[in-house]
Amino acid sequence: MNVDQRPIVVFGGTGHYGCRIVSKLLDKQEKVRVLSRDSRKARRLLGENVDILEGDVTRRERIVQSLAGVKAIIICLSAMNRKLIRKMKSIERDAVLMILDEAQKARIDRLVYVSGYDLREDLLRELKMVKFGEIKLEIEKRIKSSRFDWTIIGAAPSFELFFSFINNDTMSVPGGGKNPIPTVSPEDIGEITAQAVLRTDLSGRRFRVTGPEALSFPEAVERISTIINREIKYRVIPLIIVKIAAVLTLPFHPFIRFIYWSVKLLNNFPADLATKVPEDHQHLLATFDYTPITFDMEIRNRFLKE
Ligand SMILES: NC(=O)c1ccc[n+]([C@@H]2O[C@H](COP(=O)([O-])OP(=O)(O)OC[C@H]3O[C@@H](n4cnc5c(N)ncnc54)[C@H](OP(=O)(O)O)[C@@H]3O)[C@@H](O)[C@H]2O)c1
Repeated sequence: MNVDQRPIVVFGGTGHYGCRIVSKLLDKQEKVRVLSRDSRKARRLLGENVDILEGDVTRRERIVQSLAGVKAIIICLSAMNRKLIRKMKSIERDAVLMILDEAQKARIDRLVYVSGYDLREDLLRELKMVKFGEIKLEIEKRIKSSRFDWTIIGAAPSFELFFSFINNDTMSVPGGGKNPIPTVSPEDIGEITAQAVLRTDLSGRRFRVTGPEALSFPEAVERISTIINREIKYRVIPLIIVKIAAVLTLPFHPFIRFIYWSVKLLNNFPADLATKVPEDHQHLLATFDYTPITFDMEIRNRFLKE
């Protein structure tokens, strides 16, 4: 039985990963609080059993309110979309540092930070895109040198990534996406993060959270076609086209440049990390109590469910 009835606050609890974390915590009879800029959207997404505060995480007073009386914090914030990208530094860096600061003042110890899969400074430097990962690298360093009882979830991209490149039965991939990459079900991120925040033996640990296999885009498209018994075509878009679009639009909007960096990273995903995916996945199975959702299951769910 859950004796500590204080809530867990999930910053970013309405997001792609965040709402699964919230729902898995509710399944475990935990009380959950979420700060969202849109309380009606949050209520619609998360249901009646969540304590929803409306507000912006970049405002210190909202953070202080969110932290009142909580037993643990999950940070799962992202500004990686067209509307928020200009505020990335204030949301993903400054606000997170404020959360850490206020949490320390409020004497909250347990902290789970949802980050990128594996942040390699040398690779980002080599690809001339240090800016792409610098905020998460800085936050991770701060957390690792803090006194928090912390766990970092290095989240692989969601399976959704593969589906997002399909339009009219054609998967069009900038650069081709021929390097195998880890991907994961958002449900598994939710379950693992929810278990992590409740555990007392994962302090100072960082997990690469992935599904069972690394797949390239051509492999993913072949898998989808086989399972749904219908051909999904695969088309390569030269990466240079995205680069030109990024350069041309940069004076007006930085979003395409972030998209360019993301696809450049996918196309240069390190082979040694991809090779380790089955081992990383086994490590998760040995550490957490869950039944993973595979890419094949996700395809069936999405395309073949009545
Ligand atoms: N999605 C992926 O495939 C993927 C892959 C690898 C790593 N990750 C990591 O996982 C984490 C979460 O990503 P996600 O894709 O789940 O994010 P997401 O779907 O884009 O959701 C972003 C969340 O941040 C909240 N947010 C943004 N600005 C805010 C503000 N000013 N005040 C309050 N809340 C704000 C949003 O809340 P409201 O809109 O309700 O205010 C929303 O809940 C990030 O660290 C990301 O890098 C994600």
